[in-house]
Amino acid sequence: NSSFHYENLFKQETKPFLKPEAFLVGVCGGSASGKTSVCREIIRQLKGKKVDIIAQDWFYKPLTKEQRQDSANYNFDSPLAIDLDLLAEKLRELKKGKVVQCPDYDFVSHSRTKKTHQVSGDVILIEGIFTFETKELRDLYDMKIFVDVDSDIRLSRRILRDTSERGRTINGVIEQYFRFVKPGFENFVAPKRKFSDVIILRGSSNIVAINLLLDRIKAELQNHKPQKQIPFIYNRYSKDLE
Ligand code: ADP
Ligand code: C5P
Repeated sequence: NSSFHYENLFKQETKPFLKPEAFLVGVCGGSASGKTSVCREIIRQLKGKKVDIIAQDWFYKPLTKEQRQDSANYNFDSPLAIDLDLLAEKLRELKKGKVVQCPDYDFVSHSRTKKTHQVSGDVILIEGIFTFETKELRDLYDMKIFVDVDSDIRLSRRILRDTSERGRTINGVIEQYFRFVKPGFENFVAPKRKFSDVIILRGSSNIVAINLLLDRIKAELQNHKPQKQIPFIYNRYSKDLE
């Protein structure tokens, strides 16, 4: 039958979840859209389960001394600012069911710290503005979520967060936003929305959407064969959210 079926345009390959592998959930969206908050809420609700999180921000490339002295002119909203190859390498290991060590990043000094994040689990949430940037990354996820929140809300949240947590001034945050963050969002992040399976409007306030995701992840955890060889260390964030 050579007739045209429009359904074929939307046909998606559903990858079977090979049981001993980790189930990877990519979470993308603009800065301060609530990616971390959505992931923390999922982890909080799955306390005691083998669910862990990776922040793409841990993979920011450390600045050189010269770049640090002129950090206001550095573009952190370009995919080139992040070691996405190292992130993909860690995800490939996690997918095989391994325990991985990830770098840590300090937003105040724009550098890696001595700390590392040990990550493992049956379900891993990976959140960040460039998590859907490359096909290599996108192909690694079993589910892709885009957190979609209006830009004025994101800018307001970012001003509050970056002045209280990331050592910035209000003027600095606003200048950086219009010079780098907004163009970066429009050029790289927003066009990746089309690759997502699910779009969460209103971020962590969207309880209905979060509950739907939780149901899906719980079903995945039930299907998962226990991996005796992997010691699960702790449920990240569950402690400070009690
Ligand atoms: P992202 O990880 O996308 O950058 P975060 O989850 O870190 O976003 O949220 C950015 C800021 O906005 C944080 O200070 C957080 O507390 C706040 N925030 C996130 N979601 C909400 C919400 N639904 N209501 C109010 N504030 C929120
Ligand atoms: O957590 P969030 O998704 O907001 O993190 C990404 C943002 O962090 C980027 O928009 C980038 O401008 C900002 N950033 C920064 N300083 C750094 C590294 C990243 O302001 N040293």
